[in-house]
Amino acid sequence: RPLNLLRFDVSTSCAVWLAMHSIDKGIPVNIQALLCDKVSQAMVAAGAPADSEPLIRQSAKPQFGDYQVNGIMGAAKRLGMPPRQLAEKVVEHLSLSGIAHKIDIAGPGFINIFLDPQWLATEVEQALSSEHLNLAPVTPQTIVVDYSAPNVAKEMHVGHLRSTIIGDATVRTLEKLGHNVIRANHLGDWGTQFGMLIAYLEQQQADHSAEIALQDFEAFYRAAKIAYDEDEDFAVRARSYVVKLQSGDEYCLKMWRKLVDITMEQNQRNYDRLNVSLSAENVMGESLYNSMLPSIVADLKQKGLAVESEGATVVFLDEFTNKEGEPMGVIIQKKDGGYLYTTTDIACAKYRYETLKAERVIYYIDSRQHQHLMQAWTIVRKAGYVPESVPLEHHMFGMMLGKDGRPFKTRAGGTIRLVDLLDEAHERALTLVKEKNPEMDAQTLNRLAEVIGIGAVKYADLSKNRTTDYVFDWDNMLSFEGNTAPYLQYAYTRVLSIFRKAGIDEQSLQGPLVLTESREAALATRLLQFEETLQQVAREGTPHVLCAYLYDVAVLFSSFYEHCPVLTAQDESSRQSRLKLAALTARTIKSGLDLLGIGTVERM
Ligand code: ARG
Repeated sequence: RPLNLLRFDVSTSCAVWLAMHSIDKGIPVNIQALLCDKVSQAMVAAGAPADSEPLIRQSAKPQFGDYQVNGIMGAAKRLGMPPRQLAEKVVEHLSLSGIAHKIDIAGPGFINIFLDPQWLATEVEQALSSEHLNLAPVTPQTIVVDYSAPNVAKEMHVGHLRSTIIGDATVRTLEKLGHNVIRANHLGDWGTQFGMLIAYLEQQQADHSAEIALQDFEAFYRAAKIAYDEDEDFAVRARSYVVKLQSGDEYCLKMWRKLVDITMEQNQRNYDRLNVSLSAENVMGESLYNSMLPSIVADLKQKGLAVESEGATVVFLDEFTNKEGEPMGVIIQKKDGGYLYTTTDIACAKYRYETLKAERVIYYIDSRQHQHLMQAWTIVRKAGYVPESVPLEHHMFGMMLGKDGRPFKTRAGGTIRLVDLLDEAHERALTLVKEKNPEMDAQTLNRLAEVIGIGAVKYADLSKNRTTDYVFDWDNMLSFEGNTAPYLQYAYTRVLSIFRKAGIDEQSLQGPLVLTESREAALATRLLQFEETLQQVAREGTPHVLCAYLYDVAVLFSSFYEHCPVLTAQDESSRQSRLKLAALTARTIKSGLDLLGIGTVERM
């Protein structure tokens, strides 16, 4: 049965664009919003229903112009009029003078709009002179983003890597557009395993009578588990610690805190290295919701949603069926009184709405937890904890695969530690940059290798549509050709070197920008679509859209640079004009990479 929880309007309507952009107020324009406004007016003047959507899209091919109106067919159908006839009427009423130099009707009733280079030039100038490129202010929303979410006393693995970097890129994009974002790191910091971990930490401290650094979480966890399984005294102690911890025993809480702190210290090193904007302040772990759980269970019972079943407390959901085709029972409290992961996520959604005042909540969790979330949220909606007007969105992602198409593992079949992965990225990038720059000093080489290596790993992930699995391939991601981080980082340094050679800086560029060549206009149009791109990333939580955009900009720049002489331009005014395009290109690539949390260098 389709659930209404995931749905989020991906095709922004005209009204939304217009609400976000104050056209004619001297703010650099969002072309899509502007065309929405003009075409809507023309449609109404042509007799279309007032609520018809113009559906303005970027054109897929140059022969379709720069933008295409897709909403004529729908409106014509409602009017019972042949679409081409309506298209003609709309074009009659469409006043785009000074904005478009050509308007075509094509196919069954598409309207193709060709933007005027002179107008584009003015807009590029405006974007260049505004600090925020061409970003217009939005109506800010409070958005909670749940991402990263590693577990205490466990190594961060590749699954957490995906959540961490995709989540962070989305968070930065939302903030850049002016939203109020709350980063929520849903740390796995609670559960019955803590008795065992505390008992083991205690034993380690006694043995070494010193602080331990938990260098190797996997080994620590494994050893604790062995002690628990094989040593009866240890197991008894561990079980008593669980009970004590849950009842707020000071000693156990102190030991627990220590485990959490050591874990977060270690994770922070990964975050910093990955240039991810998370810190200890963003931790809102599972334990935060403990005190809410008893009253939630009581409330769900009182609302008649939860019932006792074989000693446990269960919510039966018609929306999901078990193997026998019966409504699925979701346990929210076990026979022994313990709560579950689902119970915590119910409380968590409630908290995010009630306490954090979220107007939208986004979760970056792998697709295997989809059913879990859907069940928790179905209960949340039924209980009325979060109104339907506040979207709860699962932005799921697939797995990272090895070259053999199997889940990405070490040769021995173990999980790959994030630190090891990042170290390898550094080493591989170092070899590459050394080859290219044999005369460079070691310190510079190392700095370059870190920016390029980490950038490559992040970009390889961010540039893929998150909903599918992808193959992790070192050679591809470190290539200086194609849709990769090194290609973009290199494209950026290339523009900087043009400025060095020209002996001029961005601020001192003068004279008007003139777009005479089609390659100049193509680059200018794409540069002006930065905000449209960010809006899509913000709506869908898909940073790969931004990657594809940046790649496109770099490719268009390179073709422009090849065909339109910049340094050797015919005259000084066209040299300055082309340098302006180069300047906006560099700024756009840099801003885009910043949003992805990927560094740039001046030379490489
Ligand atoms: N700690 C969990 C894991 O490692 C992910 C938590 C995701 N967030 C949530 N609200 N359930 O699988």
